Amino acid sequence: MRGCGLLMIGCIVAGLGLSAEAQEPRRAFTPGQVWAATDGEHINAHGGGIIYRDGTYYWYGENRAARTPGGPRVASPGVQCYSSTDLFNWKNEGVVMKVIEDNPNHDITRGCNIERPKVVFNQKTKKYVMWFHLELRGQGYSAARSGLATADSPTGPFTFVRSLRPNAGIWSIEFPESSRTPVTAAEAKELLQGQNFRPGLAAGVYARRDFAGGQMARDMTLYVDDDGKGYLVASAEENYTLNIHELTDDYLDFTGKWTRVAPGGHNEAPAILKHNGKYHMLASGCTGWAPNPARVLQADSIWGPWKNVGNPCAGTNPQNNLGPEKTFGGQSTCIFQVAGKPGAYIAMFDEWRPRDLRNSGHIWLPVKFDGDRMVIDWTDKWDLSVFDK
Ligand code: GAL
Repeated sequence: MRGCGLLMIGCIVAGLGLSAEAQEPRRAFTPGQVWAATDGEHINAHGGGIIYRDGTYYWYGENRAARTPGGPRVASPGVQCYSSTDLFNWKNEGVVMKVIEDNPNHDITRGCNIERPKVVFNQKTKKYVMWFHLELRGQGYSAARSGLATADSPTGPFTFVRSLRPNAGIWSIEFPESSRTPVTAAEAKELLQGQNFRPGLAAGVYARRDFAGGQMARDMTLYVDDDGKGYLVASAEENYTLNIHELTDDYLDFTGKWTRVAPGGHNEAPAILKHNGKYHMLASGCTGWAPNPARVLQADSIWGPWKNVGNPCAGTNPQNNLGPEKTFGGQSTCIFQVAGKPGAYIAMFDEWRPRDLRNSGHIWLPVKFDGDRMVIDWTDKWDLSVFDK
């Protein structure tokens, strides 16, 4: 099919069940609707992120295999990449980091779960650096690790480097001196009994529990600041707290400097942008695949303090009748700037279909600012001209 070009008139489309029109170049975003790549298939890159390099955007995300009856619900063949020069029409670049087939002991052996992969380009080393949320095979969501892979080209192949839990044996910068004593899992449970639960979470009981082995790292994003410093942001402490971990100059490791954001706030699905000198972190609550209200945490410094400034969403998705109370049916995954358009940001959300993850929807919406407040209005159909208004 690829040799047919974009205008499919005259090409044989039998078997795909697609009309010739469906293959014409797209000129608008239609949030929540099927989004076919130039191969005619719905884009299979979920929990994803975007980078821009040399005139091309690259979209990396979770490749979810078609569900085989009785097979795992979350089968992860690896990380999928698509490329585009206009953000509307995407070419399938294939699985750029594949799970390992022939070594059952490998961290990313088939059956592991790879979620929310994000890629950044390192100006110093000229490497493409991918971090992702890794769950080890057969362990549900208990491993909560950060996986790392690198490549010399944006379309890979990405080579797996290692996986780990961030910052083992290191306290966050603000952790009170008086609390800097590790606790066992049993002690943590005891300390979080009944009414002590919320205050105990905020005071870092889980961070103390995870001190020796490293902090949990589930839903994640990468953020590169104006000065080139990189950060990995991940849900930790059983998803009750988001951690920001500073990366080394090559983005391949942690410097040991990290902070706890909104301790006990129960936030996940982080995505960061900086606008007018302020940091804005879009996030969701924690209800698994089911949608919940989005929220924005705001700070003047990456090291906080971060303040919850509320839900940026407005309007209703007519496809499911869901509005801000359920983030239009979506969950945040990334915010990126349109190349060459300072101030033009697009927020990406996943509309999860847990029984058919590969067909989970993509909701892309323009981000606006009302003063310092991020606003994300539902829009049925839009293009980049919204940023010229
Ligand atoms: C969500 C999370 C997804 C996935 C899912 C599994 O909360 O954002 O990335 O991990 O839970 O239930």
